Amino acid sequence: MSKNMLLWVVLSVCALPCMGMDRRQPSVAESTLDKITFYQTQVRRIQGQINGLRRDSGPTLNQAQAAMLARYEDELRIASEEVESLEKILVRAEQLAELSTSESTRIKLSADKSAAQIAEAETAAVAAREMTQQAQITANKDIQLSQNARAIEEGRQQIALGQERTKQLNKLVWGVPLGIIASLATYFLLKHLLVHRPTIIEKDDTSIGNTPPLPHFDRLILSPAREKQLMNVFNGISRAVKKKLPLSNMLFWGPPGTGKTMAAQAYVRKLSREGLIDHVIVRGSAFKRLDSAGKAQHALAHIIRWAKKGSKRPLAIVFDEAEAMFVDRDAPEANEMTRDLTTTMLSFFEKAADPKKFFIISTNYPQKIDRALRNRIDKNNWIHFEKPGAAELERLLHVYIALHILNNKIAVSPELDAALPAIAQRLAMQGLVGREVDSLLVQVLYRVLNGEAQELNPAIFDEVVSQIEQTHELHAY
Ligand SMILES: Nc1ncnc2c1ncn2[C@@H]1O[C@H](COP(=O)(O)OP(=O)(O)O)[C@@H](O)[C@H]1O
Ligand SMILES: [Mg+2]
Repeated sequence: MSKNMLLWVVLSVCALPCMGMDRRQPSVAESTLDKITFYQTQVRRIQGQINGLRRDSGPTLNQAQAAMLARYEDELRIASEEVESLEKILVRAEQLAELSTSESTRIKLSADKSAAQIAEAETAAVAAREMTQQAQITANKDIQLSQNARAIEEGRQQIALGQERTKQLNKLVWGVPLGIIASLATYFLLKHLLVHRPTIIEKDDTSIGNTPPLPHFDRLILSPAREKQLMNVFNGISRAVKKKLPLSNMLFWGPPGTGKTMAAQAYVRKLSREGLIDHVIVRGSAFKRLDSAGKAQHALAHIIRWAKKGSKRPLAIVFDEAEAMFVDRDAPEANEMTRDLTTTMLSFFEKAADPKKFFIISTNYPQKIDRALRNRIDKNNWIHFEKPGAAELERLLHVYIALHILNNKIAVSPELDAALPAIAQRLAMQGLVGREVDSLLVQVLYRVLNGEAQELNPAIFDEVVSQIEQTHELHAY
């Protein structure tokens, strides 16, 4: 044998295992079709055997022939059932194959791509499942538009159907990650159905498409009179919502840092969590950042449109730091932006009381707010957030000691409790508000961490409060 010939033989033998490597794996439909053909042949064969037996035996069968016939008939029944169930599987497989082909094309993820792509798809599937759960919770809370709720219900049915199909297919088809494809399809379906929140609204500032965080009434310290007034006004809102009566607007006013935003947030979150209303908190500071009147008006109109579309319940809109938005139109500070915003707001809240909506305006400067808007608010609903008295300051000290000191696992000396009333008195003399007590306790925390005692004692408080007193004296001077 020549040298070349020998090389040819060796190469051919090596190539043998590679042959047929590019042969395509038969599809489920094809392999099911093969099985159907096989069982149909079986049916014909057994039928032939039965016919033969009948022909040979004549009208009466002996015992052996009868047993044979019974066995053939059993086999015939099993083969026919097999054909029938395979035909059903074939129909399902073809439908699913069709679904999988179109989905694969749309999301440009082919099942037989590299392992890296499959891993990526699995991560997306986990995210998709989370989104599905999120959307289902949202749907359960019944806060979508009726048309969205219907669409989500259909979506849910499709998910259930898709999951059932995925299960069946996973049993039938190995090596093809159809579960991932089905989850991605669900993800895109639900993403399309969800209502998009305007970017100017933070997630925690609305109940639309979202469960609002817990209201922290335990941290909100107000005078007993103010607490009572707020309770009455909001109980009135609850009753009016239940009886579909007109809802009244409110104005929260008072010095900065006294808890207006905090109170508005806590009460609307409570009502939303009870399923009575939906709310949006619109912050004046966010509007200040928009650089033109057109953009600002467009943003407010967008929020109103989105809120109306996304909510089936009565709607509460909180306009926080409203003096930045609704400046009285006759005031010298009014400009094109504030005038446009005021007009948009007034045309949405055209009545003084409406069973479908109400607003809360929170401001440090009530006199700056547009007159027409103020006229939409009953005088009983003007709620004054005054500076805290000594009793409230003592309660505020307890709240912020718990939040900044105890939460950080810092010890508190046993003498502190007895010292707090006097400290609160000194803070009241300086006219401190809730926000300042909060930052005071942060300063106290730093002192404890930098000091040697590593525990909070009255002496540390004394140092920080004395410093405040000196600064205030300096300002007064
Ligand atoms: N009444 C209060 N009770 C508890 N904390 C308060 C209170 N008032 C203010 N604070 C603290 O100060 C922060 C700012 O208060 P905020 O509600 O925005 O005041 P305002 O809206 O009146 O300017 C709050 O997040 C809270 O930490
Ligand atoms: Mg505020």
